[in-house]
Amino acid sequence: MNLEHVKQFVLEKLGKEASGHDYLHALRVLENAKQMTPFYDVKEEVVFVSCLIHDLIDIKLEDQFKVSVEDLKLFLLKEGMIENDVEMVIEIIDQISYSKGTIPKTLEGIIVQDSDRLDALGAIGIARAFAFGGKNNRLIYNPKSADDTDSVSHFFQKLFKLTSLMNTDQGRIEAEKRTQFMKGYLRQLYHEINKEDSFE
Ligand code: ADP
Ligand code: NI
Repeated sequence: MNLEHVKQFVLEKLGKEASGHDYLHALRVLENAKQMTPFYDVKEEVVFVSCLIHDLIDIKLEDQFKVSVEDLKLFLLKEGMIENDVEMVIEIIDQISYSKGTIPKTLEGIIVQDSDRLDALGAIGIARAFAFGGKNNRLIYNPKSADDTDSVSHFFQKLFKLTSLMNTDQGRIEAEKRTQFMKGYLRQLYHEINKEDSFE
């Protein structure tokens, strides 16, 4: 199966998606997975294809970007993927998209989940959080509220919890590094906004 064709398909669908589920996100998730698969006995093709297309059926996507499960299956079969692997990919991306709290049933799915979560952390994770927040009318930060109505709160509500949710050792180690970077970023942010005394 030609991964370049899958990339092209995702580029056509998500090239202009601006809330963080874009084509480049898919490529980064693939790269994260490539760091992990050598350590596991998995079907690499299933992992790599799942990484590339994992957000195409996400309920959070606007309709113009979404692809139906049926169309995805047809595309993968047409590209030469065997039916059993197509079913595996669909199951993986379904678990990743809709039930983030759950651990995927297969090792392949576990690697895709960790790879996707890593892209919510580090420098790129910070950029994605603010991009998502801006698109959804969230404040950058809200000094008066500790709820999840601003993007900085999201760091605490979700992102700083991801390290402990990682399934693989490689994922956990990288998640911890990226989380430390984010905490350093927040220290600087707090320093700057305190200095301006902009709380009241
Ligand atoms: P994915 O489907 O790629 O796992 P999500 O759909 O959960 O990611 O979120 C996409 C990006 O938007 C992530 O980087 C995430 O941190 C960010 N995000 C999601 N919810 C919020 C929020 N409430 N505030 C700020 N950023 C958010
Ligand atoms: Ni994703």
